[in-house]
Amino acid sequence: MKIVGVGCGPGMLTADAVRVLEDATLVYGSARAIALARDAIPPGCEVHGITDYRNLRSLPGHAVVLSTGDPMLAGLGSLLEGEVIPGISSLQVAFARLRLPLARAAVISAHGKDHDRAVASALEEIERGRVVFLIADPGFEVEVLAALLPPATRIAICEDLGYPTERIAVGTAGEPPLRRGDLFVVVAWGEAAP
Ligand SMILES: C[S@@+](CC[C@H](N)C(=O)[O-])C[C@H]1O[C@@H](n2cnc3c(N)ncnc32)[C@H](O)[C@@H]1O
Repeated sequence: MKIVGVGCGPGMLTADAVRVLEDATLVYGSARAIALARDAIPPGCEVHGITDYRNLRSLPGHAVVLSTGDPMLAGLGSLLEGEVIPGISSLQVAFARLRLPLARAAVISAHGKDHDRAVASALEEIERGRVVFLIADPGFEVEVLAALLPPATRIAICEDLGYPTERIAVGTAGEPPLRRGDLFVVVAWGEAAP
């Protein structure tokens, strides 16, 4: 099985990903991942939307599984056995847009996880001088994180990275940015960082 990162937005497929997809005869992915890879999927290739993530392990060995962004960042790479083809992640794009050094990043996933624990980890990392990159889900409330941080802490909400609707809103914990959509990550850093 091959697990292919398709990038977090349009136009981010790597040449390696395109090469793997050229030879694919059986592809699985979420609707968003399939849309991002659509132009590289050859005609005649069987394409299936993923309905149950628990069944992915039993796919045949020649299956190519698409993962949005990079498969190893809260993606399918750690759930499945097989070769991982890296992709351009929301982490890379967000830090590029904000011109923040990746070497200072502390990655926290709140996606489908306990949000209180994620917020507690974010507070610790910011205190340590790290730039927190938080993978959110639609239920994540930026205001809850902001209320627990020193008011001068910078907070950015990065929405729809790579899409025409991309929006980067930067504020502070005292005056946190508002989000408009459901596809977003949160980046937060204290005065000492970066
Ligand atoms: C299951 S995780 C997958 C992350 C992906 N593997 C990556 O490398 O970016 C899904 C979450 O990643 C973030 N995300 C993925 N693509 C994004 C984008 N284009 N813009 C903003 N956030 C994105 C959002 O927090 C979303 O809820």
